Amino acid sequence: MEAASSSTSQCSYEEYKETADWLLAHTEQRPKVAIICGSGLGGLADLLDDKTTFPYADIPGFPTTASTVPGHAGQLVFGRLQGRDCVCMQGRFHFYEGYSMHKVTYPVRVFYLLGVKTVIVTNAAGGLNGSYEVGDIMLIKDHINMPGFAGQNPLCGHNDVRFGERFPCMSDAYDRELRALVKQTAEEQGCGSFLQEGVYCMLAGPTYETIAECKLLQKLGADCVGMSTVPEVVVARHCGLRVLGLSLVTNKVVTDYDSVEKANHEEVLRTTQRRTQDVQRLVSHLIPKI
Ligand SMILES: *[C@@H]1O[C@H](CO)[C@@H](O)[C@H](O)[C@H]1NC(C)=O
Repeated sequence: MEAASSSTSQCSYEEYKETADWLLAHTEQRPKVAIICGSGLGGLADLLDDKTTFPYADIPGFPTTASTVPGHAGQLVFGRLQGRDCVCMQGRFHFYEGYSMHKVTYPVRVFYLLGVKTVIVTNAAGGLNGSYEVGDIMLIKDHINMPGFAGQNPLCGHNDVRFGERFPCMSDAYDRELRALVKQTAEEQGCGSFLQEGVYCMLAGPTYETIAECKLLQKLGADCVGMSTVPEVVVARHCGLRVLGLSLVTNKVVTDYDSVEKANHEEVLRTTQRRTQDVQRLVSHLIPKI
C-alpha cells in the first residue's frame, strides 16, 4: 500500500487516462452517472441490469489493494438503472486505510474521463444533530473538510488544468437542483418523513469521535460526522461534475459522559441493512430524473 500524504503520490493525467481508456475498451456502457456506495450500501449496484463487473485489482492503475473494510466489496460495476447507464463503486478507498488523498479520489477523475457528468456519493454517518433519528437519510447541503484544515486536501500539489482550475469554488458543491429532485422523489417514495438536510463533517478516522469532539463538531454547525465522501466531492467539483450526497444516519453520537452507549461498526451495518431498501429506492427513482 502507498504511503499516505506525500505529494509525490500524485497521479499524472496519463495514468487516469490509461485507466479510463481501458474501461472504455472493456465495456460498451457510457455512463453519465457514477454512484459511490458507502458502508453497507453496496447493494445499490445489485439493482443494475446488464452488469459488467471489474474487481478493482483487475483495473490498470486503480488503487491496488481491494477495500478491506467489512461492508465494502471492492469492484466497479457498470450497468443500467431504470434504463440509464450508470457506474457504481461497490466499496470506496478510505484515507484511514492508508491511501493518500490522491488514491482515495482516483476513481472520480477516471469517471470524469469516462464522460460521467453527475456523481452520487453515499455514506454511513453518525448523527450530531439532536433532532436526527437513527435511520434518517440526510441530504448533504454542505460539508466541513476537517482533513483539509489539517493539510490533507486531495487537490494539494501540482494542478493539472485539464481537470480544473487551481482554486475551485466549494460554496456550491452540492447541486441545488439535484437536492430539490431528491426532496421531491423522497415525498413520492414515502421517504419524506425521514429525509433531513444538513452539513456533513469529515474526520480522518479510524477512531470514532470522543465526547468532547462531538460537542465541538455540533458547535461548528455539523449535523453528521463520518470518515469519507469529502475528498471525492472536492475532486468531482474540481473537474466540474455535479454532486449529490446522501448520508444514512446509522447511529447517534454520544455527547453525555454518563451514557453507556458506544459507537461501533456493527450497529452501523445493522442500521444500513434496515434502511438500505429505502436508500436504493430513492436513488433508483432519482436516476431517470437526472
Ligand atoms: C438540526 O436539524 C434541524 C432539522 O433539519 C434544523 O432545523 C436545526 O437547525 C438543526 N439543529 C442544529 C443545532 O443545527
